[in-house]
Amino acid sequence: MNGFFSNIKKLKSSILMILIITAIYIVTLLLTFLVQRSAIIQILLLVLNFVLSFLYWKIKGAVIALNIGTIIFTVGAYNKMPLEYLVAGISLLFCLMIMLVVVFRKIENQRKVQQQNEIKYRELFERFKRYFDLVQVMIVGLDVDGNIILANKKTCDVLGYEYNELIGKNWFKDFVPNGIRNGLSGYFDQVKKLPNGAFDYHENPVRSKNGIERIIAWQNTIIKDDFGNVAGSLSAGLDITELRQMQEKLAQQLKLSESLYSIAEKLVLEKLNVHERANTLSKMCVELLDVSLVWVGYAAPDKSVKIVGSYPQNHPYVKDLIVRWDDSPYAQGAVGRSIKTGEYQIIEDVLNDERFIAWKDKIAPYNLKTVLSFPLISPSGVFGALVLYSDKYGFFSKEKVEQIKIISHMAAAALENARLFEELEKKLGRIEALHQIDRAISASTDLKVVMSVLLDQVIHQLNVHAADIFLFNEYSMNFEYAAGRGFRTRRINPKPIKLGTGLIGKIGMDKSSMKISGNICEYCKEFENRHCERSEIFAQEGFVFYAAVPLMAKGRLLGILEVFNRSDIQENGEWFEFLQVLGQQTAIAIDNAKLFEDLQRKNIELLQAYDATIEGWAYALDLRDRETEGHSERVTELTLKIAKKMGMKDEELLHVKRGALLHDIGKMGIPDQILLKPGKLTDQEWEIMKKHPVYAYQMLSRIEYLRPALDIPYYHHEKWDGTGYPMGLKGQEIPLSARIFAVVDVYDALTSDRPYRKAWSKEEAIEYIKNQSGKHFDPKVVEVFLSVLEEMTAID
Ligand code: C2E
Ligand code: SIN
Ligand code: SIN
Ligand code: FE
Ligand code: FE
Repeated sequence: MNGFFSNIKKLKSSILMILIITAIYIVTLLLTFLVQRSAIIQILLLVLNFVLSFLYWKIKGAVIALNIGTIIFTVGAYNKMPLEYLVAGISLLFCLMIMLVVVFRKIENQRKVQQQNEIKYRELFERFKRYFDLVQVMIVGLDVDGNIILANKKTCDVLGYEYNELIGKNWFKDFVPNGIRNGLSGYFDQVKKLPNGAFDYHENPVRSKNGIERIIAWQNTIIKDDFGNVAGSLSAGLDITELRQMQEKLAQQLKLSESLYSIAEKLVLEKLNVHERANTLSKMCVELLDVSLVWVGYAAPDKSVKIVGSYPQNHPYVKDLIVRWDDSPYAQGAVGRSIKTGEYQIIEDVLNDERFIAWKDKIAPYNLKTVLSFPLISPSGVFGALVLYSDKYGFFSKEKVEQIKIISHMAAAALENARLFEELEKKLGRIEALHQIDRAISASTDLKVVMSVLLDQVIHQLNVHAADIFLFNEYSMNFEYAAGRGFRTRRINPKPIKLGTGLIGKIGMDKSSMKISGNICEYCKEFENRHCERSEIFAQEGFVFYAAVPLMAKGRLLGILEVFNRSDIQENGEWFEFLQVLGQQTAIAIDNAKLFEDLQRKNIELLQAYDATIEGWAYALDLRDRETEGHSERVTELTLKIAKKMGMKDEELLHVKRGALLHDIGKMGIPDQILLKPGKLTDQEWEIMKKHPVYAYQMLSRIEYLRPALDIPYYHHEKWDGTGYPMGLKGQEIPLSARIFAVVDVYDALTSDRPYRKAWSKEEAIEYIKNQSGKHFDPKVVEVFLSVLEEMTAID
């Protein structure tokens, strides 16, 4: 293009030159007429003509013709030849014609060349453009002002314009989004400073005809003209919108899986405890999902939703929040419906949604706009909900919901594990409790101890504040307070309660268990129709929960087990069932203890009866052996004194006592004529008399409980030196009780009248005992016997 323009310029200057030369020529002509033969001037002009001609030597033909003409004319003029003037004039015209022909031919040539160039240029351009259009890269050329001078098909496609519409539009005004326009024109200024052939990389969005923005990665370079001035820019742009979107999506997914991973990790590391896990889960959701408030609710059997964890903790909205999953207005929100349907539920605008009316006023002060509830599902069904609130409308997009769905699955598993673990722990605790109660029942026969163990277990396992037992007295038909635990006020023997009055009376009457949440007295009054008997105690204690079971064993009412709590107990039936199991155990324990007490009492009575029998026998014996009246009692008393002094235990003393009382029971088998014979016994009679210890053995060994008392009746005639009867035992071989008794018996016999002789004096008898020490008697026993006698005399 530049070559073409410069040729035109040259042509113009050539024509100008011809005119100048022609003008000079005319001046020369005139001067020739005016100043005849002024050859000097003519020559000067001629020289001037030559000089100018050669300066423009380029239009050779014209210049040569002109100069030849000039020379001829000058010479002709100089010689003043009129013909010569004519010739000169003709040659001048001829020269001018040649000159013009040359000039026009030149112009024509130039035009042809230009046309050819233009065609070539267009062909070239079209070909290039076809190539450009094939390229799947945007190619844009801008002039210095940013107007589009070149664009390929891809560029048209991306921007949504036809090629012709596009050319001439201003890039910055029409395609750069408002927000970044200024920044980008600054950048364009920088690009203009790039050295030749240098490229610069830049990413920026462009706005297409229909307003959609696409992100393009540009390679920019600069175009300069022949003189080195910036003529515009040329850019190749790659549409990376999808790439960037994909990258963004990938980054989001990465972030999501990171957050899911960290939630999973946190939940697993957390203790196997529902509350702690629910709190952690809520916290993670708030931190990772950019929501404002989260809570985890459990669907309680009473159709309420119990909040087990939340974040931010102690958020005032969550406090005392009533949510249900029945048909009440409190079940119409996202939570109730998600629990009932098992599908997630969204309330987009809590302040204007009819279904949220129950909480509208409560939620108003907080900047919470929309709520999402996800059901928490275990293999056995929906057990709760994960509830999230956002302060932005439309926050819970499809993608968000998908994310939260994954979280809710994870959460359900983690929470369910924790719940199962807690349940297992509780069950193990209960089994252990039952075991302990069993042990208490079998190990202790004391009713008070049994009740104390039971109440401890009841309070611990049922997690209540207080518990007590009333026992039913079948004779008075009253319930009497028997034991209690966990009361603040001191319940010193509350009045007995009549069967049929008050809570206890009603439970006893109906023989069925009872559970009250809230005002216990109100309930009591309902069927009592008057003042509640224990209202003062309930009020002082602050009880708001009550449960009781009748204690029944073998169809008989034994009493009532009551439990109290200072806060309401939400339970799923299992708790109440366990209370009833504990009630059964308590009844069995009380029944056992009562039976045992009865048995013990009967046993004691029986034993007392036995002993009375023994004493009776002894008395009868003394009576038969008339002269020895009171003998049995006296020897028993003295024997016990000595035995005690010699260190015998109470248990042994009991047997010693019985043995002493019955020592001569064997004489039952001795005929009167021998036993009561006033004189000396014959050898034969003596043989019979000596059998009385053996008879005693035969009689008493049949009675089990008298067997330990046999030593005295059997061995009281054995002697220390081994000369006694019936076995002839010696020294320590003879049981101590028999050794003691022997001394006492002989002393009492000697100091009493006998059919065969008169009583000896005390002194004589003592002398005899001392004498027999080491022979008939154990010297040690004699020693103690004498000291005891001394003590007794001192008291007398
Ligand atoms: P008992 O009369 O109660 O006497 C118990 C024991 O006291 C006698 O055991 C004996 O060790 C001692 N004892 C009692 N009286 C005398 C006594 O006068 N002198 C001495 N040295 N010791 C006396 P023993 O000897 O084995 O007699 C057992 C029982 O046999 C007596 O019980 C008594 O019921 C009867 N018995 C013994 N000797 C006679 C007797 O001569 N005539 C009669 N009728 N019965 C006799
Ligand atoms: C609901 O949407 O079910 C109630 C939740 C709330 O009280 O915020
Ligand atoms: C008795 O002591 O009364 C009779 C004699 C005896 O068996 O020791
Ligand atoms: Fe005897
Ligand atoms: Fe005796």
